[in-house]
Amino acid sequence: MRTVRTITELRGMIHVWRNKGERIAFVPTMGNLHAGHIHLMAQAVHRADRVVASIFVNPMQFGANEDFTTYPRTLSADSIALAENGVHALFLPEVSELYPHGAENTTRVEVVGLSDILCGASRPGHFVGVATVVNKFFNIVQPDIAVFGEKDYQQLLVIRRMVADLCLPITILGVPTVREPDGLAMSSRNGYLTAEQRSGASRLYQVLRATHQHISEGARDYAMLAEQGMQALRDAGFTPDYFTVRRSHDLMLPEPGDSELVVLAAAWSGSTRLIDNIQIDI
Ligand code: PAF
Repeated sequence: MRTVRTITELRGMIHVWRNKGERIAFVPTMGNLHAGHIHLMAQAVHRADRVVASIFVNPMQFGANEDFTTYPRTLSADSIALAENGVHALFLPEVSELYPHGAENTTRVEVVGLSDILCGASRPGHFVGVATVVNKFFNIVQPDIAVFGEKDYQQLLVIRRMVADLCLPITILGVPTVREPDGLAMSSRNGYLTAEQRSGASRLYQVLRATHQHISEGARDYAMLAEQGMQALRDAGFTPDYFTVRRSHDLMLPEPGDSELVVLAAAWSGSTRLIDNIQIDI
């Protein structure tokens, strides 16, 4: 695996691969890799001749009071894991390489509508930061396929919509969430949890599953299910941000006849914000 820090060098490598007719997959990450990320790499390796992964803690998608400076940076272990799992190039740009005029002064990409609801309502500007950096990566790598986890379900839809709206010739692959044995969705931020918080954290998934079960048994009062979910999260010791049933293709509230749904939740365990979701077809 080659580690590449500049756009020019990465483009040079990709040019050679393209000239040989090779198919390229791209997996963006912020590092601190866990089994969920490795699963994304495996999907990429399976679908392309060459895999490019990036590690970049993107300042543009963090709010002023969020964890940009403390976000875990574990480059040595991450590099080994990527090399051992078939990645051909690790793109590791400095902030100044991607944002030469500063992240606050860069051209922005906003996916209107999807960006300011749910997580976007709690984290203003977050999805503009995500869409902007992912669009830049797409322009640099020009992959045939890019791989994202379904754990960040709203992010996945933002990316899909951006690709459609901007006519980018890239297939977006969403990959099911990888979970710990007790059901907790794998996340780089799980490491922030204290032992006590960690032992209660899987309740988030259990509450989602209970709602999934109610819907599969015929419950259709989604507002009531959401209120029950919020209460169940409070009872489990979380401070819920939202718990809601939405249409899986656009995250709008379901209307009679909608059959493809997703139950989404975001909740604080102490100072750690956890998110998770379950899709359901009724
Ligand atoms: O999901 C993430 O890790 C980040 O939001 C992403 C897609 C790498 C963009 O910075």
